[in-house]
Amino acid sequence: MNSVNGNIAISIKNLSKNYIEGGKPHAILRCANADIYEGEMVALLGRSGSGKSTLLNLISGLDTPDEGDVSIGAEKITQMSDEHRTLFRREHIGFVYQFFNLIPTLNVMENLKLILELNDQENAKVRCVELLDKVGLGTRLDTYPDALSGGEQQRVAIARALVHKPGILLADEPTGNLDETTSDEIWDLFDTLIRPSGGTILLATHSLTAAKRCDRMLELKDGKIHDITGKYD
Ligand SMILES: Nc1ncnc2c1ncn2[C@@H]1O[C@H](COP(=O)(O)OP(=O)(O)OP(=O)(O)O)[C@@H](O)[C@H]1O
Ligand SMILES: [Mg+2]
Repeated sequence: MNSVNGNIAISIKNLSKNYIEGGKPHAILRCANADIYEGEMVALLGRSGSGKSTLLNLISGLDTPDEGDVSIGAEKITQMSDEHRTLFRREHIGFVYQFFNLIPTLNVMENLKLILELNDQENAKVRCVELLDKVGLGTRLDTYPDALSGGEQQRVAIARALVHKPGILLADEPTGNLDETTSDEIWDLFDTLIRPSGGTILLATHSLTAAKRCDRMLELKDGKIHDITGKYD
């Protein structure tokens, strides 16, 4: 355990998820268990198809399991109604995707402000400008996503994932679509911006270099979560 205060931020209990393929259930998660502590940055490794995205989607409440539970702090996100889960996610979880997922019809500023407006948060503009400055895009507020490079889009997406000050940040291969230099810049942002913001971070990655920057490494294999911290030291 490499926890800051010993409190569990994300608890995964006996989690199972099947997809139906060719009429038969295909087990992706089989009674998976893990605890992630407040303030930790944890890497989620595993071969392509092992279920990393599936697990992140279950933790964020974007998807629901067949069995088992995910708790965020004291709240079982898996037992919430759809509406409650949406509101909970909007308030407590930030998500960074491999393909950025910015809204193409909104400019940089509008992409960030959206979640604050949905959450009825005040001082939205000040908060957005402050964060966009920190990711080096303070002069690009009016730019639309298609006029930005991949690395720039991901920096906007990172600012968007942090703008509502979530306790949990989930990232699904956040550099999976970027060249090596740009990837390094994004990983540096994890150290200089994301970690100091104090939340708990779980990131799926194929990069061992990135995983080594984390406090712990988990591996998804055969539907289970294994703690492999130290395996590659
Ligand atoms: N909506 C779906 N319907 C059917 N099967 C799915 C669905 N989503 C995922 N799967 C299957 O579940 C398995 C796990 O997929 P997942 O995307 O979670 O893997 P991953 O570890 O994130 O892989 P990668 O490293 O390539 O991103 C795969 O076999 C995939 O085909
Ligand atoms: Mg994936």
